[in-house]
Amino acid sequence: MRSTPPANWELLEAEAERLLPQMVFEYYAGGAGDEVTLRDNRAAFARVKLRPRMLCGVEEPALATTALGQHLAMPVAVAPMAYQRLAHPDGELATASACGALGVPMTLSTMATASVEEVASVATGPLWFQLYVWRDRGATRALVERAAAAGASALVITVDAPRLGTRRRDVENGFALPAGVRLGNLEGLLGADAAPPSIDDGSQLAAHFAVLNDLQLTWRDLEWFRSLSPLPIVLKGVLTAEDARLAAEHGVDAIVVSNHGGRQLDGVPATLDVLPEVAEAAGGRLEVWMDGGVRSGTDVVRALALGARLVLLGRPVLWGLAAGGEQGVASVLDRLRVEIEEALLLCGCPSVHDVTRAHVVRGRAGTSG
Ligand code: FNR
Ligand code: LAC
Repeated sequence: MRSTPPANWELLEAEAERLLPQMVFEYYAGGAGDEVTLRDNRAAFARVKLRPRMLCGVEEPALATTALGQHLAMPVAVAPMAYQRLAHPDGELATASACGALGVPMTLSTMATASVEEVASVATGPLWFQLYVWRDRGATRALVERAAAAGASALVITVDAPRLGTRRRDVENGFALPAGVRLGNLEGLLGADAAPPSIDDGSQLAAHFAVLNDLQLTWRDLEWFRSLSPLPIVLKGVLTAEDARLAAEHGVDAIVVSNHGGRQLDGVPATLDVLPEVAEAAGGRLEVWMDGGVRSGTDVVRALALGARLVLLGRPVLWGLAAGGEQGVASVLDRLRVEIEEALLLCGCPSVHDVTRAHVVRGRAGTSG
């Protein structure tokens, strides 16, 4: 990676597009269906305007916060993202090292191209484990036990993907893992199912999900998850007040307002648009996090103002990884840190905890959306 990273996310994404094989770039960048939700995640941020306060005397805004009682250098964590060795040979290990250096938690995907033990051995910050629940519940249990034993400090159960949304770009590209790329968390637990199935056409990942995933998962299973480990439980993929209330009633520790970066059910709202409804329903009984389309420090401030405790950052991390491995991810996170600091200072907020609903307003006609 060059010493100064590109000046904005679009340029960084363009650099990643230039560096990556088309099949990989489109898997990372793409969404489900017509990609309406994918685009709306970004557009929603432009619809929310900031309401800065003046003469607040803020010199050095404090970015540190906590999530699940764990210390974070800023209200940001890296979202779980599969298949990171397709971006860079160091894959998830590079992401974990960069996260540790910046004091940002990394969420490791079940579908990672390194095992939770390998990633834990290089992680110096909080490591959260994202779980896909397999039909083989014995293997699912063993995986959770492995993650806890390796030192993961939260279990992030993804609830919006019992089956993979149809990503047309992947279908057209016949998206499949190159030979030799291993899925470290599946090996040794799933027998023949650990290997991605060979396909003649379509998306190999979608085919693998169809073999592995348990479609019968319900709220009743939360008790079972709690019996597996002492880890706090986070549900990723909540989009309604109804489900936020159910999560609170079932003793969930945090929810992530997420539409999987527009990769699952196309046509659902932008996450920033449903965040206030979900945060209100949660009513402080559990932590509310969000992801989808966060690309700047002012985006983070908008999300905090509308009720999120922290945001998960997705695709920009992959662009940084593709462009410069560990250093590239560190640059992306560090730039976001600098931007959050500036946004807080110019909004007149001494710390991330001082951002309130009064710091934003919905855009009106004539204010670009
Ligand atoms: C994801 N996401 C995801 N989520 C999850 O729970 N498990 C996973 O394995 C993956 N894998 C994955 C791969 C890729 C390439 C992407 C882009 C996304 C979804 C991810 O955690 C997050 O919800 C979104 O990416 C957030 O949106 P932005 O920041 O990418 O717009
Ligand atoms: C994805 C899956 C793996 O979004 O969550 O590609």
